[in-house]
Amino acid sequence: MREPTVVAEPGLPEAVTIWEVGPRDGLQNESAIVPVEAKAEFVERLVAAGLPVVEATSFVHPKWVPQLADAAELVQRLGPDGRRHPVLVPNERGLQRAIDLGCEHVAIFGSATDTFAQRNLNSSVEEQFAMFEPTVTRARSEGMDVRAYVSMCFGDPWEGDVPVEQVVAVGTRLLDLGASQLSLGDTIGVGTAGHVTALLDAFNAAGVPDDVLAVHFHDTYGQALANAGAALRHGVRTFDSSAGGLGGCPYAESATGNLATEDLVWMLHGLGVGTGVDLEALVATSVWMAEVLGRPSPSRVVAALAG
Ligand code: HMG
Ligand code: MG
Repeated sequence: MREPTVVAEPGLPEAVTIWEVGPRDGLQNESAIVPVEAKAEFVERLVAAGLPVVEATSFVHPKWVPQLADAAELVQRLGPDGRRHPVLVPNERGLQRAIDLGCEHVAIFGSATDTFAQRNLNSSVEEQFAMFEPTVTRARSEGMDVRAYVSMCFGDPWEGDVPVEQVVAVGTRLLDLGASQLSLGDTIGVGTAGHVTALLDAFNAAGVPDDVLAVHFHDTYGQALANAGAALRHGVRTFDSSAGGLGGCPYAESATGNLATEDLVWMLHGLGVGTGVDLEALVATSVWMAEVLGRPSPSRVVAALAG
């Protein structure tokens, strides 16, 4: 299979971490409910393709996200290895479900805006912290690693522009709860590269270095890869993406798929930045998942290589 010509760019790292979110962010937004056996195969194939982190599912209310109602069954099916995959938990109830299954890594997900907090978590921005605080404290006391997401970092479909200071205020509070990493979500994919740089600068100025940050771009406006490039050159070393570009968010209007992992891998490998990912195995996985879902992958690299 064709690989990009490598022309290394000075100043870039030898390797970065791709945080694969396809099974969670991808499948949570598909109208088709994917059978649990296929979800387990998806996670296993992503691991086999070399993805170092595969976020598997969410322990949220099944009425809110029916696509992931089988979260417990999926983790059990994945066996002992399944416990290391991060899972989303919004509250203590979700955390308890993850603890009962032996999960080692959880992620909370906050919002920079009140409207999305209300729609996604049935809370205000302030109330979300009351929900997260005991959740993170308990997770840490159980020895779990905790990631925090902040959504609507670059714009909100209901509130419009979201000031950088508002995002930094929410993000630093999430880190202060005890999260080890903060993933900055462009939930509706409206951000552009200069905005990415400005937001990262603002976090750095608030004492949060790039190595604590991850970026999570949705590709609604076709900016996700350019934004990932801006974050890479700034110093970010963890990139969220979903195999085949699956995904979106059921609670955010105009949120389409995540940055496709294949597109990200093509760019990184071309720049001489290692990911550990076997592109051929990854593309084959996305082609298979597209068949399961009954629609083609929106990833340009999948289309180019699978054709
Ligand atoms: P609520 O209705 O306010 O919950 O929902 P509640 O605390 O009032 O409880 C109501 C009932 O739900 C109770 O049961 C609870 O036990 C139960 P009852 O007593 O009526 O029988 N319950 C639960 N059941 C299972 N698992 C749980 C749970 N919690 C309560 N964890 C809640 C509040 C947070 C639960 C709800 O709003 C929810 O589940 N939201 C999740 C929404 C979601 O998953 N969104 C997508 C992920 S975020 C995203 O995609 C963005 C991201 O990708 C980054 C980006 O792109 O920006 C991360
Ligand atoms: Mg997302």
